[in-house]
Amino acid sequence: MALMEVKNVTMRFGGLYALRQVNLEVNRGEIVGIIGPNGAGKTTLFSVISGFLKPTEGQVIFKGKNITGLRPSAICKEGITRTFQIVQPFPGITVLENVQVAAFNRLTGTKSAAEKAEEILDFVGLYSKKDALGSNLTVGERKRLEVAKALATEPELLLLDEVMAGLTPVETDTTISLVKKIQDKGITVLLIEHVMKVIMSLAQRIVVLNHGEKIADGDPETVSKDPKVIDAYLGGVATGA
Ligand SMILES: Nc1ncnc2c1ncn2[C@@H]1O[C@H](COP(=O)(O)OP(=O)(O)O)[C@@H](O)[C@H]1O
Ligand SMILES: [Mg+2]
Repeated sequence: MALMEVKNVTMRFGGLYALRQVNLEVNRGEIVGIIGPNGAGKTTLFSVISGFLKPTEGQVIFKGKNITGLRPSAICKEGITRTFQIVQPFPGITVLENVQVAAFNRLTGTKSAAEKAEEILDFVGLYSKKDALGSNLTVGERKRLEVAKALATEPELLLLDEVMAGLTPVETDTTISLVKKIQDKGITVLLIEHVMKVIMSLAQRIVVLNHGEKIADGDPETVSKDPKVIDAYLGGVATGA
């Protein structure tokens, strides 16, 4: 059985189909890359899976259970957590406290949540910044804080939305290693990413969205040679969209 299944999901905003009849299966332990030009529906797909949007049609099944339309907090409890493309650490509280808040998804004690937060900050390489304010971090650090917050909820399925965008090459390499370490922990990862090199080095499978429709789904080698995919990219990324 697939860990997570998206079945015939359509998301319509007025007359615009952000997603149209999308089907997707994710198996336990995989890293699946999601690519597609700007506006293809990638973030919308994450919003539907994580409960921030209720799809116009279709279902999201997680561990055999229909979770469509549940609130984000309930879906997080079920074991799915997303990061946001635009990172927003709580201002005015420390990095540690940001992660601690997320840890309350599973833990009730303040002390156990703080311990969990320290462990996660160490894991993502942000321990030395634990007492800094979220608002004082660099872009790269904020992105890692976002991943730390997501990990603190102890997801089984982690949805990463462009966590490498805006990073330096060194930070990108650090984050690639981090995603591999997350997979080694047994967490399944769905990863939206623009940089082909990153996707190719991480994903066991690539799903391509274009204008809300899934146009390819397969191993990186095959997908990157698919004429439909090359066409979509010539119409999108190559023009700087
Ligand atoms: N809340 C919303 N209301 C109306 N239109 C939206 C909303 N969210 C996304 N869209 C539109 O849906 C399409 C897909 O957006 P998005 O999922 O953010 O694409 P991607 O993440 O692939 O760049 C875009 O045309 C976008 O403008
Ligand atoms: Mg997006």
